[in-house]
Amino acid sequence: MDPVRALCADHDELVMRLQELEDLCVRAERGAEPPELAAALGAMIDRLREEVDVHSNKEEIGLIPVLRSHRLPEDLLETLLDEHEGVRAHVHDFAIEAGLWLSGGRSREPAWIGPARLARGLLSTHIQKENLLVFPLAERLLTAEERAEVADAFARLDGGGA
Ligand SMILES: [Fe+2]
Repeated sequence: MDPVRALCADHDELVMRLQELEDLCVRAERGAEPPELAAALGAMIDRLREEVDVHSNKEEIGLIPVLRSHRLPEDLLETLLDEHEGVRAHVHDFAIEAGLWLSGGRSREPAWIGPARLARGLLSTHIQKENLLVFPLAERLLTAEERAEVADAFARLDGGGA
């Protein structure tokens, strides 16, 4: 698959995951207790961390280094990388707090809702920026050789190598 289209498909998956995350936040706000959310929230912790990591790595290791040789709006790539760090930090905080809540530690208050929504907000705007600005630029700028290079990097990352 074309590597930029593959990243778009990842984004669609992530948007669905973020909606599931918001659904969990709403259920907790409405009073759902840890045992009711254990299975779904436990799965969300693992899946969100994994998907954000694999997807961010594809862009950081595969796409962004290739884009550096092209003329792009100033600071665009650095902004994207900063946003990746921000999303990873919010997802990390969410995972820690959700784990504590599920195990009955610290507090009965679902303190994971705050970082979950921060992750959702930042990742949503980041995805829109990439879909509307970065990917169209990449489609226009990348040569056939660069596309193949990016696709090879993605295949290594999807396979768990590299
Ligand atoms: Fe990104």
